[in-house]
Amino acid sequence: MRKPLSQLASYQALQTHAESLQAESIRGLFSKDSNRFEKFSQQFDGLLLDYSKNLITEEIINALVDLYHECDVPAWQEKMFTGDEINLTEQRAVQHAAMREINKATSALAQKQVEVLNRIENFVNEIHARNITDIVNIGIGGSHLGPMLVCNALKKFAKPGINVHFVANIDAYEVHQVLEKLIPENSLFIVTSKSFTTQETLVNANTVKQWFENNSQSSTNIANHFVAVSANVKKAEAFGISQQYIFPMWDEVGGRYSLWSAVGLSIALFLGMENFKKLLQGARSKDEHFRNSKPDENIPVLLALLEIWHQHFFNSHTHAILPYDTRLRYLPAYLQQLVMESNGKYVDREGNTLDVPSAPIVFGDVGTNAQHSFFQLLHQGTHAISCDFIGVVKPDHDNHTQHNMLLANLFGQTQALMQGQTIEEAQQQGDENNAPHKFFPGNRISNTILLTELTPHTLGMLLAIYEHKVFVQGIILNINSFDQMGVELGKRLASNILEKIENENAELDQDSSTNALIKFYKDNS
Ligand code: F6P
Repeated sequence: MRKPLSQLASYQALQTHAESLQAESIRGLFSKDSNRFEKFSQQFDGLLLDYSKNLITEEIINALVDLYHECDVPAWQEKMFTGDEINLTEQRAVQHAAMREINKATSALAQKQVEVLNRIENFVNEIHARNITDIVNIGIGGSHLGPMLVCNALKKFAKPGINVHFVANIDAYEVHQVLEKLIPENSLFIVTSKSFTTQETLVNANTVKQWFENNSQSSTNIANHFVAVSANVKKAEAFGISQQYIFPMWDEVGGRYSLWSAVGLSIALFLGMENFKKLLQGARSKDEHFRNSKPDENIPVLLALLEIWHQHFFNSHTHAILPYDTRLRYLPAYLQQLVMESNGKYVDREGNTLDVPSAPIVFGDVGTNAQHSFFQLLHQGTHAISCDFIGVVKPDHDNHTQHNMLLANLFGQTQALMQGQTIEEAQQQGDENNAPHKFFPGNRISNTILLTELTPHTLGMLLAIYEHKVFVQGIILNINSFDQMGVELGKRLASNILEKIENENAELDQDSSTNALIKFYKDNS
């Protein structure tokens, strides 16, 4: 059993370091050292991580690396990569990285996945040869956010003549919005659900099936238009999908880590198999980097340690994801699930209450839009918020003037957050009375990640970096990052409440607030 985090010697040493840095500022550190960027940046395969705008010195990085070793992160990395059952509560191995071993499968599961990929490839060819113009993924959470992010980010690589749509919410508005645009004979529906028990997905799938039956020509064979991706083949069959059209996923791959598995079927259909494989290979290259690089050169490890440093010792409990690229607009939502569903827990692996904070709150939006909504608080608010700015050097269009402006804004914001503006600088602007309002404390931390291009390969790398970052944090916190028991209670209560809504004479025996909400809804609907 591991000691609580706060009792580890390396953690206590960090506490002492933090106290000695209280009077320091990132701006001050930059002015003392003109090589700061060289010291605190990493490049890998067309990706640059600049972490120089963190409140760190080389001594702090060394102290964080001590924490990494004291928490035995390398041993846990190996346990994950070699298939140990590290998801203790569910007694499962954690094998999303094995989904990316497409060139050399090193485990039985990776081998099985290669066979699944071959099936997917044949299926993609079959669909591309048919008159299918619209692919609809019906799924939620991990069965939705990853594919939606990737398909939107890489639209430029899409097969001509194919559209992709996503239906997730139980709110029927969404499914009907999509169905309005479709012709049944030209549409393929993928019911994606690891468990095949998720209410939203099954209800939406039934709505779509009903629509299909009502709107298709009598000669159309419904079986040719519905496929499933699931670890629960029996339930998918019971839903009416024939076995040859059920693509398996595995218990060892968590929903939020699953876009690399058959859950990526919509990606393979929309972008083509070659591009899906490039995405997997990009992620694979990061797996190798993560497994083999020294901690102080290891991008996911550095990101994890830096966030722990600022969260635990400088009260920075919120993390903003700020892609300066509209193609990455779904990245914040994707990372919210990845981070908060993985590490948003109050107990450690042994069931003891944590003595330190767990996952930060993640939010975000695209730049520059976000500058005109919540950046005021980032610059002058009273919360400490760390930021990841993500930019792409080469755009998908020829309007380089606007692209230069976009990137100038990204760089300018990271600079403003870091250096701030002193009262004297504010006064020099000639509006003495408002100088306090024009004071920017600065010392606000950010990482900048630049990709030279946004391709299947680089996007694969980027997402794998974040997966491994979350893994390292889970190990340091001694959390099981691979279950999500906190989502169950609300689901159970909702099903109880549904009964009360649907049954006219049901006794309202809940708390007074819930009773009143149910009553108001029933009275007014
Ligand atoms: O309720 C949360 C959750 O279980 C997520 O972890 C998961 O990604 C999502 O629901 C969808 O689950 P499934 O793929 O089993 O439908």
